[in-house]
Amino acid sequence: MPDSPVPTPIDTLLVAIRAVVGERGLLTEPADTAPYAEDWRRLYQGRTPAVVRPAGAEEVAAVVRLCAEAGVPVVPQGGNTSMVGGATPAADGSELVLSLARMNRVRAIDPVDLTLTIEAGVTLKAAQDAAAEAGCLLPLSIASEGTAQVGGILATNAGGNNTVRYGNARDMVLGLEVVLPDGTVWNGLRRLRKDNTGYCLRQLFVGAEGTLGIITAAVLKLVPRPRETEVALCAVASPEAALGLFTRFQAHDPAAVQAFEYMSGGGMGFVLKHIPGANLPLARPSEHYALVELATPRPDAGLRAALEAVLEQALADGLVQDAAIAESDAQRAAIWRLREEHSEAQKREGASVKNDVSVPVSKVPELIRRATAACEALIQGVRCVPFGHMGDGNIHFNLEQPEGADAAWFLAQDHAIMDTVNEVVRDLGGSFSAEHGVGLLKPYMMPDWRGGAELAVMQRIKHALDPRGIMNPGKVLP
Ligand code: MLT
Ligand code: ZN
Repeated sequence: MPDSPVPTPIDTLLVAIRAVVGERGLLTEPADTAPYAEDWRRLYQGRTPAVVRPAGAEEVAAVVRLCAEAGVPVVPQGGNTSMVGGATPAADGSELVLSLARMNRVRAIDPVDLTLTIEAGVTLKAAQDAAAEAGCLLPLSIASEGTAQVGGILATNAGGNNTVRYGNARDMVLGLEVVLPDGTVWNGLRRLRKDNTGYCLRQLFVGAEGTLGIITAAVLKLVPRPRETEVALCAVASPEAALGLFTRFQAHDPAAVQAFEYMSGGGMGFVLKHIPGANLPLARPSEHYALVELATPRPDAGLRAALEAVLEQALADGLVQDAAIAESDAQRAAIWRLREEHSEAQKREGASVKNDVSVPVSKVPELIRRATAACEALIQGVRCVPFGHMGDGNIHFNLEQPEGADAAWFLAQDHAIMDTVNEVVRDLGGSFSAEHGVGLLKPYMMPDWRGGAELAVMQRIKHALDPRGIMNPGKVLP
């Protein structure tokens, strides 16, 4: 009789995990696990023996406990839309992926408390829809909201289009449920506006990118749904003119500015070229664009009149060259699509290097000018496509490979490119990662930017909560 093969420790672990999550909760076929092992940008090709898909927090806890005992690392994953490889397992096949996708229930919504209690695997779009059905607004909007999930959004402290008015993901969190690296469940699903009782643990997990524990559910703040929304796309003469327009809207009514985005002519050109159905609602293309969204829950706020008044004056003063105001939901969506499809269009155009940087708002035009000059001097023919959240001082200073260049050659220069942009960013008092986080791509920058006491404290916190280093290894900390 042939000997049966000796189970390897990972096989033993998977048997125990299968007993917790069942057949439905475990993927082991390479064809099934492959999509979870590669990031959206295709920068990292990981490998994993299994993707675990628990159905609830207790299952997550049991799985993490088993992994902790076996010393096998866990990579939490939501919608897998990270721009920095934050949810991708290592290439050596030593890490399990834990997908939150099956935990997709809206647990409760309270229009009086203005709170939404929701599981980690709900997509941001579904969470927004649930809030809207209750007559409220979840004021967080990002380009990947149809795929990105609440757990990942909180773990990475996503920013997005409405930060200018409502802040980042962290500003929306009242409570969290978290599975700690030893498999303990911390139920902090409180929905209090005031709770001043010691260290604010929930904020420790927001932005930790899954290195301290796994967020399984959250209580999010809602706001009253806007009664009036106006969106305009403007052709502007320069980044300075875009900033000037922003300050005029802010001066007029800061409570109404819900988004203020900048786009370069190059980036818009890629959208018009690659995205089916994309059309420019202006007479002619421009070198620079601004997208403004105003919104208010107040009845009779007269937003349209305010928008027109600010734009008319800006046209008269030469800040704005042309503007299109959306007349319907469909036109609003079409204008937003020109902005939201920037990343997809850049992907279709070829290889790109991303710099998700922030500077004080007043320095954005200088950032765009200086970083463009520095990158064009570094790589002949490189195409700079800065765009993003001008109202937050957060520009995606992305670079597209020179036409006809080899993609691998271009990507191999990513550190040189990022360092070149970051030199300008540092000089302007900015940050090397405004909203995408650190992930696998940028831990090497941490000693330089956050070294000393700050990084030392982060490392001590990591060690205190995850002494065996099993939670999302290789991410955030160098
Ligand atoms: C966006 O705002 O569309 C994303 O954060 C972008 C990116 O850098 O591609
Ligand atoms: Zn962004």
